[in-house]
Amino acid sequence: MSQNVVIIGANRGIGLELAKQYCETGAKVYAVCRQTSEALNQLPCDVIEGIDICNDASVSSLPDKLNTIPIHVLIHNSGVLVPDAYPDINIDSMKHHFDVNTLGPLRIVQALVPQLSEGSKIGILTSRVGSIGDNNGSFNYAYRTSKCAANMIGKCLSLDLAPQGIAVALLHPGYVRTEMTGQRGLMDTDESAQGLVKIMSELTLENTGLFFHTNGEMIPW
Ligand SMILES: NC(=O)c1ccc[n+]([C@@H]2O[C@H](COP(=O)([O-])OP(=O)(O)OC[C@H]3O[C@@H](n4cnc5c(N)ncnc54)[C@H](OP(=O)(O)O)[C@@H]3O)[C@@H](O)[C@H]2O)c1
Repeated sequence: MSQNVVIIGANRGIGLELAKQYCETGAKVYAVCRQTSEALNQLPCDVIEGIDICNDASVSSLPDKLNTIPIHVLIHNSGVLVPDAYPDINIDSMKHHFDVNTLGPLRIVQALVPQLSEGSKIGILTSRVGSIGDNNGSFNYAYRTSKCAANMIGKCLSLDLAPQGIAVALLHPGYVRTEMTGQRGLMDTDESAQGLVKIMSELTLENTGLFFHTNGEMIPW
C-alpha cells in the first residue's frame, strides 16, 4: 500500500523538494501551502492551498480538506527567518517567529493527530541554530529562540504520542540554498531532502524524540 505523506509548506524551498522526492518514491503526496507555485503544480501530488499555519481557523479546515485520509508521514516544513542582532531585538518580530516556528507545528499536529495512528511518523523542521549546546553566535534571537522552543514542543510530542505508536523527529535540514538563506548555503535542496527522507524512513519508536542533522548525525539540544 502506498504511503500518504502530508507536507506543510510545500510550495518552495526544501518543502517543494521533499514533495518531489516523496512523489518519486511512489507515495501519495498532499502538498499543503498558503499559495501554490508553478513548480509545485508540475508535481503529481494533491495541492491543498489556503493554509496559513498562524491562523487557527485555517489550520482547523485542513482535516476536511485532506478528506480525513490516514496519514503515514507528516512533515511540518514551514518556517520564517527575519534576521536580527543584539541590541536591536524587535518584540513583534519575536512574537511572529514564535507564531510561525513554534506554534505553527503545534497547531498542525493538534489538528492532524486524529488522522495518525500506530506506525505514523512526524518530522518537524527546526534548525541547528535553535540548539543551545551548539550555539556559537548570538544573532537571530527571534529565529533561534522560536526554533529552540519548537524542539521542546517536538520532544514533548514524542513522549505523548509514543503510546499511540507515533514517532517524532526534530530535523535540521543543513545550511541549504533557498529563499530563506538568500540562496547561500552548503548544499542544495535535493541533497538536504534526500537526507531528511532517509531519516524519516528510519524513524521508529526506538529513535523517536531526537534532533537529527540531515547528514544523520545527532545535534545537541
Ligand atoms: N534553508 C536553510 O538553510 C535552513 C536551515 C535550517 C532550518 N531550515 C528550516 O527549514 C524549513 C524550510 O526552509 P526553507 O529554507 O525551504 O525556507 P523558504 O524557502 O523560505 O520556505 C519557507 C516555507 O515556509 C512557508 N511559510 C512561511 N510562513 C508560513 C505560514 N504562516 N503559513 C504557512 N506556510 C508558511 C512558506 O510559504 P510562503 O511561500 O507562503 O511564504 C514556504 O513554503 C524552515 O522551517 C526553516 O526554518 C532551513
